[in-house]
This record gives sequence, C-alpha cells and structure tokens, in this order.
Amino acid sequence: MKAAITGTGRYFPEREETNAYFYEELGLDTSEDWIVERTGIRTRRLAGPGETCSTMAVAAARRCLQDAGRSVDDVDAIVVATVTPDQPLPSVACHVQAALGARCWAFDLVAACSGFVYGLNVVAGMVESGRAKCVLFIGADHMSSILDFRDRNTSIIFGDAAGAVLVEAVDDDHPGTVHRSTLHADGTGAKHLQIPAGGGAMPLTPQLLDEGLHFVKQEGRVVFRHAVSGIISVVREHLASEGITVDDIDLFVPHQANVRIIHAAMDRLKVPRDKTVITIDRYANTTAASIPTALDIAREEGRVRCGDRVLFATFGAGFTWGAQTVTWGLD
Ligand code: UT7
Repeated sequence: MKAAITGTGRYFPEREETNAYFYEELGLDTSEDWIVERTGIRTRRLAGPGETCSTMAVAAARRCLQDAGRSVDDVDAIVVATVTPDQPLPSVACHVQAALGARCWAFDLVAACSGFVYGLNVVAGMVESGRAKCVLFIGADHMSSILDFRDRNTSIIFGDAAGAVLVEAVDDDHPGTVHRSTLHADGTGAKHLQIPAGGGAMPLTPQLLDEGLHFVKQEGRVVFRHAVSGIISVVREHLASEGITVDDIDLFVPHQANVRIIHAAMDRLKVPRDKTVITIDRYANTTAASIPTALDIAREEGRVRCGDRVLFATFGAGFTWGAQTVTWGLD
C-alpha cells in the first residue's frame, strides 16, 4: 500500500497589507527597499476580524476535498500542522473536524516552519501502515496572532494562510507517491526562534505581557545561516537516499522564509530558478502553510504535471528541518 496526494486547496485572508503598512501606518523604522532587498516580501495577507487558524484551515480543507472529489465522510483522520492554534486546548484539528461535520479522529502537530514536511511524513506513514485510508492534512498558521507589531525584526516577515492536501491509500499502479522524508531536529537551536512566555516554563504575568514575551522572537541572522546550510545539506542527503539527483527534480517547492535563503540554497544545489516556486513576494512567510499553499498555486499555474517529481525543503524553529519528494499523481 502506498500513499499519494489526491487533492490540494489553499486559503489566504482577504485583508492585504503591503510593506507601506509598516512604515506609513504603524510608523516602524523600516522601508520598502529594506524589506524587499532583505526578504523579497512586497505584500502579505493578514487575518481579518473573526478569522483564526481553524477558520482558515476549514476554508483550505473544503477546497481540497472538492478538488479531490471527496466528501468529509471519506476522511478518517484530520491532522493540522500549526504553531498558532485558536487556543492552547483543544487542537485546531478538532475545531476543523466540528466545522466540517466530520466524525474522524483529529490532532495537531507542532514543527513550526517544518510542519508540512514533518506532517506529510507522519500522515503518509499512517496511510502506508493501513491505520488510515484518507487523511486530510492541513498546514495553517495565524502568525499575526503572535507578532509584536512594534518589532520591525519580526512583524514584517510573516503572513497568515492555510494550505491543505488529501493523502490517500492508492494502488501500486497509481502514478502518485509520497516518498519518505529526510528529517532533522536540533533542540539546542530553540533559543534563536521562540515565544519565550505563555507556556509552563514561563506562565504569563502582567509584567511578561508588558514586555511582549508572549510574541515571537527571532535572532534572524543566526536562523538565516542555519537555514541556508540546513536546507543545502538535507536536500543533498535526501536526494542521495532516494538515489536521484537534482536533474531528476521537476519542481522545487521550498519553505518561503526569505527569498535570499531560497536563492542561496538553490544556487549552491544548482537547482534552476525556473524550477523553483516563489510566493514569498505575495504572501510572506506563512510558516506551516507556506509549502502547501505554494504547491496549490504552482498547480493552478500549470507548473506541475502527472509523473513529475516535486521536492519540498524547509527549515524552522526547533531547530527543525527536512526535505521530501513526492511523485505527482494528478493531472
Ligand atoms: O521561517 C522560519 C525560519 N526563519 C527564517 O528562516 C528567517 C531567517 N532570517 C531572515 O530571514 C533574516 O535574518 C531577516 C529578514 C529576519 C533579517 O535580515 P538580515 O539581513 O539578517 O538583517 P539583520 O537581522 O542582520 O539586521 C541588519 C540590520 C540591523 O541593524 P544594525 O544592527 O546593522 O544597525 C537591524 O536592526 O537591519 C536592521 N533591521 C531592519 N532595518 C529596517 C532589522 N529589521 C529591519 C527592518 N527594517 N524591518
């Protein structure tokens, strides 16, 4: 039994904020040139009133099910990769299950910007082992809920979105396959990208709230350096483990954290830029949603065809990083 992606869907909030929002409306000491040159970001979508991680996830899930021609009754597990749940308890996946009217089991998975690649490995394993036949897997993040909009180091980088894939058990002669992921973690990097307060180690107090320690903090330069080297090494390791080379890859869909990270890694790996999907200019870094939304956009643009080998690669908080290939099975 093998697992294949049989549908995709995405959701971005309507509210759009260009870079000018930060230097004109919020009065941050930043500029169009700095943001575009240092990150590649021109605009991003931010959740509007009433929108949360689960509402975005539900919208992406509905589109995905429709794309796959499946009903919610066909789904026997819902998994959501996220670091921005609607509330600490219960999971986003349970909210999604209720909103869709599903009856299946449901849980969240935390691997930050690596959530999609980590989760796809878990979900494919569930399907390959026969424990589930049809899994709705969503990468969704409401990053604006954990951003300090007074902090130019972090607020300009992120956006909100959800991307969904349906992963199903298929026969061996089906053209699609989710291959094994190559995954890594190094928890000694935790301090470089984190939300310091709000968990059991540092429960929230009025003082911690005043200090903004419930917002995301990042040592950008350190993370940048590790991201470039981590993506290069994990892609090389992954291609070797699959017995293929960069030339066998038809489309590269990297996590969208910074266009300079993507270009630096691609150039070193000698992946042609026209095989690389870039969405960060339009949507910024949407954490667990960045790869599934970029994949869905690439499909819509006709950039992926049945039989193509698609490579995902990512690096994020933890540190966590990984690479994965899928053979595309949809027209
Ligand atoms: O997706 C999860 C993983 N995350 C990542 O992969 C993100 C990795 N890091 C990055 O993408 C980049 O490090 C950032 C975009 C976050 C920052 O870019 P950078 O080129 O690494 O800038 P920097 O942090 O080294 O800062 C350079 C200067 C500093 O000023 P000084 O100390 O040189 O005077 C910053 O204070 O730029 C300043 N700066 C800004 N200036 C204008 C930082 N943010 C801004 C800003 N506008 N928004």
